[in-house]
Amino acid sequence: MAHDLVIVANRLPVDRVTDRDGKTTWRASPGGLVSAIEPVMRAHDGVWVGWSGGSEQRLKPFKVNGLQLVPLALSAEEVEEHYEGFSNGTLWPLYHDLVAKPEFHREWWDSYVKVNRRFAEKTAELAAKGATVWVHDYQLQLVPQMLRELRPDLRIGFYLHIPFPPAELFQQLPWRRQILEGLLGADLVGFQLPGAAQNFIRLVRQRVGHKTHRDLVYLPDGRTVRAAAFPISIDAAGFEELARSEAVTERAAAIRDALGNPSKIFLGIDRLDYTKGIYARLRAFGELISDGDLTVDDAVFVQVAVPSRERVEHYRNLRDDIDRLVGRLNGDLGRIGTPAISYLHTSYPREEMAALYRAADIMVVTPYRDGMNLVAKEYVACRIEEDGALVLSEFAGAADELRQAWLVNPYDMNGMKAALLEAHQAEPKELTRRMKAMRKQIAQHDVKAWADSFMTELAEDGQHSKSVLPATRS
Ligand code: F6P
Repeated sequence: MAHDLVIVANRLPVDRVTDRDGKTTWRASPGGLVSAIEPVMRAHDGVWVGWSGGSEQRLKPFKVNGLQLVPLALSAEEVEEHYEGFSNGTLWPLYHDLVAKPEFHREWWDSYVKVNRRFAEKTAELAAKGATVWVHDYQLQLVPQMLRELRPDLRIGFYLHIPFPPAELFQQLPWRRQILEGLLGADLVGFQLPGAAQNFIRLVRQRVGHKTHRDLVYLPDGRTVRAAAFPISIDAAGFEELARSEAVTERAAAIRDALGNPSKIFLGIDRLDYTKGIYARLRAFGELISDGDLTVDDAVFVQVAVPSRERVEHYRNLRDDIDRLVGRLNGDLGRIGTPAISYLHTSYPREEMAALYRAADIMVVTPYRDGMNLVAKEYVACRIEEDGALVLSEFAGAADELRQAWLVNPYDMNGMKAALLEAHQAEPKELTRRMKAMRKQIAQHDVKAWADSFMTELAEDGQHSKSVLPATRS
């Protein structure tokens, strides 16, 4: 059956759950992306194509909560070469300021091409005539061009959830031209920040040689591609409602109790990823205690590290480093029943996250580079009493919108210590002034507004492409 809207992403918006009898079923994952896209999918008879997360070959399309999902399988070798290899061993560090060294392997690239082609072919099969296709993220940057070759009748949008690097870094990639051409198969290429869209336009001009003017690229075949920023957000009202619920309110109090009711709780919640700056922030906190600026009675640091990409070497090393640091800090600074750091290597459902956000006085988000960082926005949405401090890296996309946070450079250890201390000691009036402004921003720019603006631009761009080109081009 043909569909008017196809969403294409590396993962499906579902988690596989195994019950007591060993039977596996699917459960909708609670992400903001799916809640934003769901209404659009329902309105347009949409379908979502994504990797099942495993290597089984015989998965059939299925429905969860009325959403039509089409799983694609990757072989064990493709998981290693496309997902862990090219996506997360090459592109991920390259697009995040080389926080780790990217590896360039020709067989990883071959696998990336092969898997992108599988996604493009399946999408071409599913899309109705003139349908809209929205492709997501760095794992699938070749899909727009491959799809256009198969189905020139489609409207194709692409959105990159992570940063897009400056030309000086991007040009290290041996396959830089192919990636740029892959993205140019789309009618609209969306980024988190305007700077990323500008990086892309500049690279297209320099490396592919197409004419560009502001946010437009003019292709020799007469097509126009627009590159623009669409900062992603969260379901702010949903988080706020959850935070206000009785269950979450009680759970937040129980968390404070379990931590021994310290006067202030610092909180970090991240995927266990080397871009997130977890190690540096825990060190900064540890130094504040050993310097005597804070005591373990004044403060505890709760760090939740969500397991991620555990077969990739950089991630395994990071886990070991953090395990060691937490052990050392607690050994040196903690007392019986009063650790300096409460470290949890696990993932939590939305309710528990909301309770943690409500329990925490200071949220610490210090990535070296991050496309947006939704945890920072979720914290703000859950602070229904308009208090609490956010310490936020200048290098997270969210820093563009959350200007009232304590903004820090995560490479500057003393600067970070000073900001943590200031946030710890801030007056209630100051906290409210800052939090109010941030809450207003998040309420007005939620994930629904994000999805609507992308879809509207994508539809409008269609008319725009047919218009006459402006006379001045650079
Ligand atoms: O936003 C970046 C991203 O890689 C998404 O594409 C992905 O869904 C998420 O982080 C989690 O990563 P992974 O799919 O590798 O577990």
